[in-house]
Amino acid sequence: MARIKAIRGMNDILPESTPVWQYLETTVKSVLAAYGYSEIRMPIVEQTDLFKRSIGEVTDIVEKEMYTFEDRNKESLTLRPEGTASCVRAGEEHGLLFNQTQRLWYTGPMFRYEKPQKGRYRQFHQIGIETFGMATADIDAEVIMLSARLWKRLGILDAVTLQLNSLGSNEARAKYRAALVEYLEARKEQLDEDSLRRLESNPLRILDSKDANTQSVLDGAPELSDYLDEESRTHFAELCTMLDAAGVNYEINPRLVRGLDYYCKTVFEWVTDKLGAQGTVCAGGRYDGLVKQLGGRPTPGVGFAMGVERLILLLETLDVIPADVRQPFDLYLAAEHKGLQGQVITLAEQLRDAVPGLRVRVHCAGLKNIGAKARQTGAPLVALVKQTDEGLTTTLWQGEEPRFDIAQADLAEVVKSAFNA
Ligand code: HAM
Repeated sequence: MARIKAIRGMNDILPESTPVWQYLETTVKSVLAAYGYSEIRMPIVEQTDLFKRSIGEVTDIVEKEMYTFEDRNKESLTLRPEGTASCVRAGEEHGLLFNQTQRLWYTGPMFRYEKPQKGRYRQFHQIGIETFGMATADIDAEVIMLSARLWKRLGILDAVTLQLNSLGSNEARAKYRAALVEYLEARKEQLDEDSLRRLESNPLRILDSKDANTQSVLDGAPELSDYLDEESRTHFAELCTMLDAAGVNYEINPRLVRGLDYYCKTVFEWVTDKLGAQGTVCAGGRYDGLVKQLGGRPTPGVGFAMGVERLILLLETLDVIPADVRQPFDLYLAAEHKGLQGQVITLAEQLRDAVPGLRVRVHCAGLKNIGAKARQTGAPLVALVKQTDEGLTTTLWQGEEPRFDIAQADLAEVVKSAFNA
């Protein structure tokens, strides 16, 4: 019978990798805690309209990347392609938004029917943050400073660059859109096929085009920054001043427009040149119109999401994962000869009671070559237990020097001091 395989672009995360995922998640959580964020957990499936109305009907995501299906009730449902829309929906539904301030985070799988390649998958994971109820530039700055702190903690700050832009108000963007279309209409024959299509549907996305010809046409195009409304201009200047004061470096990229329609004012992306084509590890911005657009009362919002797979690829590429992260236990405990299995698992229980935080893995299989096998596990501590005339005694290795004949009564203390050394 043919073997059933995982779906293309949807990966198993294997035991050798999960410690790195946990390391990343733990580090992110501790940084989020330092900024007073609360976790929110949303369903993976939502009504299709939620994404159409937020991300935008004429974006790549909604046009061609969503996993949409009818349930048994003939309702159109979609596997979430991102978290912001769900977070706004949940916040609004539970009265968390209006006239309040919130700092929320979430994590989990997202689904997009994209062409899989390194750093781009059909099921991928994001850790996202969304803040609500704060319209001033200080929260934009704080959100970015939080991400910079995280990169520093992970040891990747030098490998990422912050790209920053302002999209202005909806009105400013509409004016700019008209000017851009007029300019590009006159140069239609020089545009690539994708950009030509977007000229009708979503012209601002042409700024993002990877096509060299199109990019050179854009060199003479009107600049979004010249169309910004006064309020957005001040907001952006304040943000830049705060980032300067905090020592966060950035590049202003006037062509950064993002692939989701809900943004206004600030948009940003953290990019790296270490991962090839899929170099954006974290992206976000301000979305002051979104809550209202989804039926709530006007509430400003700012947030971002990072791509967990991409960050892990970057950590691996830069070789900055602490050495002990991949070791799932501190002590490997084995019997030296047959007949002790029951006593060894009891001893392990006693050690777990006596040494807080100690992770013990007990050897529960055949004992052939046990000394060598136990040490090959790479555990920082290896203990071999044998029966002698004086009762159970243990040999403990920490590094190369064994310590012989530790009496059962002393074992917990010896392990404790070795573990805490
Ligand atoms: P996004 O730019 O679509 O924004 O995705 C954010 C990040 O998710 C990307 O920068 C990338 O690291 C990762 N990502 C996206 N698609 C894939 C994929 N197919 N495979 C692997 N990683 C991927 C959003 O999703 C917004 N909701 C961000 C946001 C939150 N804006 C405001 N709040």
